Amino acid sequence: MVKITSVYEEEYKNKIKQISPHEHILDSRQFDQGYIYEILLNANLMKKEMGKQKDLIGKIVAMLFYEPSTRTRFSFESAAKRLGAETISTENAKEFSSAAKGETLEDSIRITSGYSDFIVIRHPEDDSSVRAAMVSDVPIINAGSGKSQHPTQALLDVYTIYDHFGRLENIKTCVVGDLLNGRTVRSLVYLLSKFRGNEFYFVAPKFLMPPKDLTDHIEEAGLNHTKTGSLLDALSWADVVYMTRTQLERMTDTEKEELKAYEKEYGRLAITPENIINMPEKSILLHPLPRVGEIDPRIDTDPRARYFEQAKNGLYVRMAILSTLNRHNGKS
Ligand code: NCD
Repeated sequence: MVKITSVYEEEYKNKIKQISPHEHILDSRQFDQGYIYEILLNANLMKKEMGKQKDLIGKIVAMLFYEPSTRTRFSFESAAKRLGAETISTENAKEFSSAAKGETLEDSIRITSGYSDFIVIRHPEDDSSVRAAMVSDVPIINAGSGKSQHPTQALLDVYTIYDHFGRLENIKTCVVGDLLNGRTVRSLVYLLSKFRGNEFYFVAPKFLMPPKDLTDHIEEAGLNHTKTGSLLDALSWADVVYMTRTQLERMTDTEKEELKAYEKEYGRLAITPENIINMPEKSILLHPLPRVGEIDPRIDTDPRARYFEQAKNGLYVRMAILSTLNRHNGKS
């Protein structure tokens, strides 16, 4: 088993690629193309044969959520139950688990891993899943760690893209919103950077543009990216428009002040009935959700609006992830 280091150490970048996603799901850089296609095919099977796959009978999936969640927690619980597993769960681990009494994350994981076969964890700290994996006897699945990662969201995002375009190469993705603090953006960019010909258009106010290490990653993969404040230009160019909300809970006070001033002058970056007409007919509009004003509900019936379908795909993809991990029994 590869020894995991802290996410803040330079060597983590290389180490994480050696940790098999058949062991733990921590970071989207772990996935190679083979694993990604394995999940996509499996998710299709789960969708087609819903109710028939019962690979997790007798297993227990623990859900440890230290941050709010609707889609991720419910879809993981539903996925586990549809596969025949039982779940043990706390939706507010910060208040209702021993964390409220001062127990460390490591101790909570040591204990929970003795009661379950898989642990799905969402936690506000960037390195939480990696720390959990260091002490866990069972596979850890990262369901969102601080600003750093949301790898299962990225898999369901690419499932939705593949389902529509039939390919993961040569896709032009326009990513809009808080690109500095959003973990779904980071995980998705890492995943799409694994396929040739992909391009990115980042649309955000200057102070919420993606950090340099992320754009360096794209360049190291030999791919192109552009940064702009103009949503209109990007919309007419895109195959995929990926909207994100402002991560107010992760912003510094200075960022909040800057955002207030920006929105006062330019308004909110949003897709509306007026600007969606600039999106090509064959393009799709995605959002990890929740939306808070970035997508006008009047366009929900537009054929390009695929965010509810994307959320539903989360069930099939998470069934595929659990069943694949179970088949490999947490071993690489
Ligand atoms: C995302 C998250 O938690 O990062 N939500 C989700 O899991 N679909 C996006 C967000 O909260 O903005």
